[in-house]
Amino acid sequence: MDTGKRAAGERAVEFIKPGMTIGLGTGSTAYFAIKRLGTLVRNGLSIRAVATSVQSELLASEEQIPLIPFSEVEVIDIDIDGADEVDGQLQLIKGGGGALLREKIIAAASREMIVVVDESKVVETLGRFPLPVEIIPFAWELTYKHLVDMGANPKVRHIGNTPFVTDNGNWILDCSFNQIQQAEVLHAALNDIPGIVENGLFIHYATRLIIGYTDGSIKEVT
Ligand code: A5P
Repeated sequence: MDTGKRAAGERAVEFIKPGMTIGLGTGSTAYFAIKRLGTLVRNGLSIRAVATSVQSELLASEEQIPLIPFSEVEVIDIDIDGADEVDGQLQLIKGGGGALLREKIIAAASREMIVVVDESKVVETLGRFPLPVEIIPFAWELTYKHLVDMGANPKVRHIGNTPFVTDNGNWILDCSFNQIQQAEVLHAALNDIPGIVENGLFIHYATRLIIGYTDGSIKEVT
């Protein structure tokens, strides 16, 4: 069932060279990259890493991948991360797992961002997947109202009856824009609203896309 995700995740790790600092993404596709990297590390590959979520940090520790504090990071050579949607210009929607803020900070500090997805994530136009927007809980009703006024049809993400809380103590509003024609304009408009910390549009970050298919083959786009 996860053949495509595995194929993409494991292929991405082939770009890693000894001595590099690696950004470890979050989600079920990045999982396969982290697992493969763990095997290589235990077999002697010398790299250092930073993680985009508590979940990936825990997995990396289990895999004995050396994690370093951000004070020791000069540059992140390669960031390997998944996506919820990707279009033909390598623009992404991320944050389905709620890790978008840390993911974006690390993507922005990386020389290369390799995006790993299965074929189901590739779209003509972004927007079918609800856009995750991270907000601070303070006065969330006002931030929510801004988004309603933009026609975003926001929904507070919940786990059971309580709001989902990100690794940063914030909330996520999942917003429906349907077809996002001008991602850059929407990105700027969202981040201009007080209360919004970050949104899940990743516009100029991805440098390579690896798409995995159910038959185990892959396609790469740069
Ligand atoms: C985490 O918040 C997300 O940005 C993930 O990277 C994204 O949801 C892709 O996850 P999967 O590989 O599990 O689909």
